[in-house]
Amino acid sequence: MSYYQALGLAREPFSTSPDPAFFFRSSSHMQALARLEIAIRLRRGLSLILGDVGTGKTTLARTLLANVPQEDGFVFHMILDPLFESEYQFLTHLSRLFGVQAPGKSTLDCREAIEHHLFQGGVMEGRTTVLIVDEGQKLSLDMLENLRMLLNYETNEFKLLQLVIFAQMELLARIGRIRNFMDRVAMRYLINPLSEQETAEMIQFRLHSAGLAEGRALFTPEAIRAIHHATQGYPRRIALLCHNALESLVMHDTSLVDEGLIDALLQDEVRWAREAAAS
Ligand SMILES: Nc1ncnc2c1ncn2[C@@H]1O[C@H](COP(=O)(O)OP(=O)(O)O)[C@@H](O)[C@H]1O
Ligand SMILES: [Mg+2]
Repeated sequence: MSYYQALGLAREPFSTSPDPAFFFRSSSHMQALARLEIAIRLRRGLSLILGDVGTGKTTLARTLLANVPQEDGFVFHMILDPLFESEYQFLTHLSRLFGVQAPGKSTLDCREAIEHHLFQGGVMEGRTTVLIVDEGQKLSLDMLENLRMLLNYETNEFKLLQLVIFAQMELLARIGRIRNFMDRVAMRYLINPLSEQETAEMIQFRLHSAGLAEGRALFTPEAIRAIHHATQGYPRRIALLCHNALESLVMHDTSLVDEGLIDALLQDEVRWAREAAAS
């Protein structure tokens, strides 16, 4: 029997995979999502979502995909890890992703074929092409320059490519080095970590999503305060700590995570970090 079944849950509540089913709508995540949807629907071009590691960017990207219905004429494409060896490799990847018929043999041909495809879809067939790039801090200057060129492509009313980049802060410096790129950003948003109240709500939300009965709690308020303090409200760290806490509950055959248990887990983490540093 899995540890979560022992606690009366149907699913694992604190897995660290970016599953939209466990997406808690914190005020920061909600705002980012709402503004993204508006920017895409208005076909405003480039949106930039920034945030530290573990703030929920990938989860947000997947939730956006699940949120905007394809029936409205939106076609989504996603690049999870934008590491390419050359401009040409990047452009042929984009061509294949978009379903461009004859991608072309040079970077110029490729770009033209993509532009033709975007025009055909956007103007003749009423389709909106949305490209989501995750781990955007890995985009090289060359790739950014190519994306900028594709973003230049527009009708009198709207941009033909909708681009959403999720990235860590370091992308900003690189973008700053490309002339006119910053001017292209139609929407930018910085994801903030969760408040203590939201940390409590996220924990409760994920437990209920995993099947915890209404009115039942597995964490004391003091434990939640300690979790928020230790994680600074970063969702990935919250999920990891909660996962360890629940495993420990089952191991010790108890039913409520209290502050003492969280403290013990944190001390254990410190010990491991020290060992790792010394080895
Ligand atoms: N809004 C949220 N609600 C619930 N869990 C979240 C939320 N945002 C992030 N998480 C959790 O945090 C972890 C890291 O999220 P992720 O999207 O991979 O962060 P990032 O891409 O910014 O590094 C995952 O376990 C994810 O489930
Ligand atoms: Mg990510």
